[in-house]
Amino acid sequence: MITNDLFLRACRGESVERVPVWYMRQAGRYDPDYRKIKEKYTLLEICKQPELAAEVTLMPIHKLGVDAAILYSDIMNPVASIGIDFDIVKDVGPVIHNPIRSASDIERLKPIDVEKDLSHVLDTIKILERELTVPLISFAGAPFTLASYLIEGRPSKSYIRTKALMYSDPNVWHNLMGKLADMAATYLRAHIQSGAKAVQLFDSWVGSLAPHDFKQFVLPHVESIFASLSDLDVPKIYFPGVSSGELLPHLTSLQSDVIGLDWRVSVSEGRRRTGGKFAVQGNLDPYVLTAPSEVIHEHARRILDEGMQEPGFIFNLGHGLFPEASLEKLKELTEFVHTYSENKISAGVTS
Ligand code: CP3
Repeated sequence: MITNDLFLRACRGESVERVPVWYMRQAGRYDPDYRKIKEKYTLLEICKQPELAAEVTLMPIHKLGVDAAILYSDIMNPVASIGIDFDIVKDVGPVIHNPIRSASDIERLKPIDVEKDLSHVLDTIKILERELTVPLISFAGAPFTLASYLIEGRPSKSYIRTKALMYSDPNVWHNLMGKLADMAATYLRAHIQSGAKAVQLFDSWVGSLAPHDFKQFVLPHVESIFASLSDLDVPKIYFPGVSSGELLPHLTSLQSDVIGLDWRVSVSEGRRRTGGKFAVQGNLDPYVLTAPSEVIHEHARRILDEGMQEPGFIFNLGHGLFPEASLEKLKELTEFVHTYSENKISAGVTS
């Protein structure tokens, strides 16, 4: 049963007693206990064992004291169901054995079958619904970010093949994006129906596009995902990933509740660019965590001071945690965010 709903209230722009905090990639390799589990099982093997996947999801809740859990999974998880054969390779990331290179590759993609192929994910969510006292965030990869893996075949810095398809063959591109949008919407709907209390759409690499290309080639598909989930009353988060500051003014049409910011745009500026329409989540540069505690707290204080100027703020990083991060420093940061914001709110300094 949820006893701490600060995160859900902040997503809805309601007032809170203290600022909620969670971290993207909070279940991961910075934690020695997670590394021990990874000596025995791969990421996909963990995901296929609901009890174990639930345990890994719960680890940062107990260790860090964060206000939300994020399902242990990966954005690649559902693509096997549409006919993509992949592995997550150590120190590389997702590697696709049958990358998408032609219109006929896209024609061959099947609709997702969550019940048949991904029941283990729904089972993990059901276990977590029983065990968690904080809300569970589930997630999916957004069409552009997923397409970048499916087309390149592995992580890329330039997205050369992805952009080649996008610019050269817009009809084929939109066909692929439409299929990936349908997949994400169907997958997230099943998660919500199984007990997820919020969903986040990860568009980690869409900031590589110019705003006019984003509007033409990507935005309609992101819009369609949130529109198709609009009957489900759970907070929805769009994270447009790294270097997405120039895209922010184009997001106001989305039927989402929260926008995730990376660290290149301040929280106030992020709010301004999105017309004050959304709650905001972010945005500490994860690599600030390599600094001494006083420096980390100084950065967190600046973010909190801006975030707390308006209701609807969730503290997070601007991107995922990295393996070298320190569990101790993360715990301290979580405590700092809680204490600092609670004192400030109870002193009536802010809303
Ligand atoms: O946030 C969490 O704690 C939940 C778990 C989670 C994972 N992947 C587990 C994972 C989440 C939310 C993701 C999302 C994801 N996966 C994204 C979007 C977020 C982002 O970082 O931009 C992306 C782009 C992926 C694709 C992916 N998966 C990459 C690029 C990699 C390699 C990264 C690396 O540093 O090796 C993965 C593997 C992966 N997914 C790991 C974890 C914990 C690390 C390797 C492992 O433990 O097996």
